[in-house]
Amino acid sequence: MQLDINFVRQQFDQLQDQPEFVFASNAGGSYVCNQANDLLEHYNRHTRVQPYSHYGSSTEAGEAMDRAKQDWAAALNIDLAELTIGPSTSMNTYVMSQAIGEQWQTGDEIVVTNQDHEANSGVWRRKATEKGVTIRQWEVDLETGLLDTDSLLPLLNDNTRWVFFSHCSNVVGTTNPVAAITKLIKKHSSAKVFIDAVAYAPHHVSDMKLLGVDGYAFSLYKVFGPHQGIMYVNRSIHAGLASQAHYFLSGESSKVFNPAGPQHAQVAACAGVLDYFDLLYKHHFNHSDVDRPHRLVAIRNLILAHENTLAAPILDFLDTHSAVRLIGKAHVADGDRAPTIAFKPLKQSSQSLTNLLQDAGIGTENGNFYAHRLISDLGIDPDDGVVRLSLVHYNTQEDVEKILTELDRALN
Ligand SMILES: Cc1ncc(COP(=O)(O)O)c(C=O)c1O
Repeated sequence: MQLDINFVRQQFDQLQDQPEFVFASNAGGSYVCNQANDLLEHYNRHTRVQPYSHYGSSTEAGEAMDRAKQDWAAALNIDLAELTIGPSTSMNTYVMSQAIGEQWQTGDEIVVTNQDHEANSGVWRRKATEKGVTIRQWEVDLETGLLDTDSLLPLLNDNTRWVFFSHCSNVVGTTNPVAAITKLIKKHSSAKVFIDAVAYAPHHVSDMKLLGVDGYAFSLYKVFGPHQGIMYVNRSIHAGLASQAHYFLSGESSKVFNPAGPQHAQVAACAGVLDYFDLLYKHHFNHSDVDRPHRLVAIRNLILAHENTLAAPILDFLDTHSAVRLIGKAHVADGDRAPTIAFKPLKQSSQSLTNLLQDAGIGTENGNFYAHRLISDLGIDPDDGVVRLSLVHYNTQEDVEKILTELDRALN
């Protein structure tokens, strides 16, 4: 069975607006599915009051927010108390650095990478420096940008408190095998594991129990939803973390790692993303007795197959082009390559190539994408950076053909 791409595209009004335009900048922020927009609009038009009081619109508002939280907890296979919906991933990791870092002391160690977006790097480094904690860097291969588990093991010891890495880099585009790496970390240390899944979640919403991590964060505005950050923090470690809520709210799990007042309408609209995935599931499969994580896996398999057909010809083209340095894996055969494809043109700046692609009707970007350390360490000027073509499941073969034609023209 194949993903019904026409059905998919019908769920995004923005795709109907400019049928000729190729949106290839999804890793910066995806289009929003109609289901999420409908919930956002409904909330703002009809239930824009303080939620959770006992009058009609307020009760409805609270129920809409609760449904979003319950559905996301079910999708991630976690308890409600383990879910935080905050303003963004950068804000969530910043808050977590305060919650986690309070306990750190001299002699402790943490591991961060030079592959990550700064949101999963700088906050931990800054807190560690403040507390006299040793920072160990798990380093990428300087040619490919890939992380290798062999170089992680020597960094772990009895003092390692936390290891921070990403499920998929927003530049390298290759999935790090989180479950396997986490298992290894736990075997060789008592460290906790926190994952930035912002660049992975648009391709699959994961089951936290299967990953075995302690913290996990991603941004719904890149997963076809409103501008909110979803975060999981394992219940078993809550007691050891410092509450970031007002002192009289520290018993309320949804507030402990989110001092911001919730953005009510946006929180309610988070349910729309899962409604959209449910609709995709119903459209492609008949079974109704399947739980949410398994429905998401079924959808994931369709999406992966489709995304692979999008990525493969672009990777082939870039990998064999003499005027290009491709970052990350050049093939999709291992099933771990997101269609987030970054490369450095060798005979012109990334900016000038991006301008040519944009003029040709391809929405793409160049820069360091806040993976500043990675781009610098790969020997690339972080201001000009790389060109990034980032596709998702609503992109089409026609999009790919246009990208290849225009890339060929622009590179020559
Ligand atoms: C991989 C990755 N991590 C973290 C972030 C930060 O997410 P947010 O914009 O929600 O703070 C981004 C945003 O681009 C990202 O791509």
